Amino acid sequence: MDKKFETLAEKLAASKLGGGQARIDSQHKKGKLTARERIHFLLDPDSFEEIGALVTHRSTDFGMESQQFLGDGVVTGYGTVKGRLIYVFAQDFTVFGGSLSETHAEKICKVMDLALKSGAPLIGLNDSGGARIQEGVNSLGGYADIFFRNVQVSGVIPQISAIMGPCAGGAVYSPAMTDFILMVEGSSYMFVTGPNVVKTVTNETVTSEELGGASTHASKSGVTHLTAANDIDCIDKIKRLLSYIPQNCVDKVPDLPFELGEEYREELNNIIPENANQPYDIKEVIAQIADEGSFFEIHEHYAENIVVGFARLAGRSIGIIANQPMSLAGVLDVNSSKKAARFVRFCDCFNIPMLVLEDVPGFLPGTDQEWNAIITNGAKLLYAFSEATVPRITVITRKAYGGAYDVMNSKHIGADMNFAWPSAEIAVMGAKGASEIIFKKEIDSAEDPAAKLTEKEQEYAEKFANPYRAAARGFIDEVIQPSETRRKLIKAFAALEHKVVQRPKRKHGNVPL
Ligand code: HXC
Repeated sequence: MDKKFETLAEKLAASKLGGGQARIDSQHKKGKLTARERIHFLLDPDSFEEIGALVTHRSTDFGMESQQFLGDGVVTGYGTVKGRLIYVFAQDFTVFGGSLSETHAEKICKVMDLALKSGAPLIGLNDSGGARIQEGVNSLGGYADIFFRNVQVSGVIPQISAIMGPCAGGAVYSPAMTDFILMVEGSSYMFVTGPNVVKTVTNETVTSEELGGASTHASKSGVTHLTAANDIDCIDKIKRLLSYIPQNCVDKVPDLPFELGEEYREELNNIIPENANQPYDIKEVIAQIADEGSFFEIHEHYAENIVVGFARLAGRSIGIIANQPMSLAGVLDVNSSKKAARFVRFCDCFNIPMLVLEDVPGFLPGTDQEWNAIITNGAKLLYAFSEATVPRITVITRKAYGGAYDVMNSKHIGADMNFAWPSAEIAVMGAKGASEIIFKKEIDSAEDPAAKLTEKEQEYAEKFANPYRAAARGFIDEVIQPSETRRKLIKAFAALEHKVVQRPKRKHGNVPL
């Protein structure tokens, strides 16, 4: 055997678990698993096949020639999760801080290319100090090679990024272009510029955790879709997420076994409060409609006025988008529109049917919203629904007012089946606001303007605060009792299972980004 190769093979044998006990201990001391342990817990037992274990970097500057570690700071390969193929890379922080060299990038690109060719999801376990500083532009080029591939595979295979350590500078843009980001609380952070640069440029004092920790990105920026208490929890969440999504854009998620029972849910008949301005928790409605315990919420702490997530309905995977009356009365605003639009587009990319639960009083008014482009951002959701070709069903539980009625998966923008509960109110706006505008003269000239307003409000509410006008026009297919919602949805989604839609040929649409 070639002398050099022999030494490498020996080194590899000695570094089976990330390169020596001291390096393993250094990760554990920080509450983190090693790259290999992470892969071990992610994949089915004995399913991992490593690719590129003998790769070493080519750098000769700054004494790098003598510092070689097999695999060059990233473990790559493939294996199965619950029997389904995935490709994976896991950065090894114990080798040059997991920093990305030219060869480290080549290894990641190789599994990305293989994942694309094999039509299997790509999982990235990120834990890296960013560009390998000793390699200069070679490292930057490596990042760009990854970014380019993130875009080429987008919408073809699912891409999931777990942030399990540092992720800073331009490195954040690879996860940002994947479908889902998970962050581990306490040990991960993401930012374009760190606290020191922030202090120098803006004079703000902020910690890494405050600037770009898991809870910051889960609630303030919405950059991360999920957070996890630790590495194991993060890996469990990746597995759960994978269970709802297909292998690629022409695949279908495997159904779970299901036997149809009577499927009525009487509890739903009592969920809408007497007073239309009283909130209720839409997640209780979801829990009753979906298969028991199957709802997996995405972006839980960001833009809480809309709820999105995956669930099973009669064993089938579906995506749910639901206004949340418990938060800001369920209005649409900048953040909720962006959050829902992103989710709708993911479901549509990957053939996941969508259920919309609608209770929306309209768009949030105010300078903050207008100046932050509620026009452009609201349009994202409208655009996302309008271009979606997967089976799409809406249930209006209560309010469906104004432009928000159109946006929230109305029949007019391509929804397949639209149901309403008897409590639905489908109108241009609420009765009070509407009466104040259209009966202004009558009210002003009345002897008792307040009494007149109440009278007109009642008249308007009787005419429009119900689902029957919309049903008479066919904009609503059926007014149903809340208790029969689950049963109706099971049948409707089954009927739509083989839905086919042809769109006009084009290069790609121009979503209002
Ligand atoms: C080479 C690196 C490195 C890097 C860390 N190391 N980052 N080596 N290139 N980018 C090495 C350290 O020298 C050290 O080596 C080991 O990894 C562990 O690092 P520590 O600093 O001891 O660890 P810790 O205290 O946990 O701090 C981690 C860290 C810090 C916060 C990530 O290392 C750090 O700030 N690194 C630099 C981050 C950075 O500026 N990266 C470039 C960003 S720009 P030894 O031998 O001592 O164990 C970028 C652009 C991408 O990434 C652009 C894409 C378009």
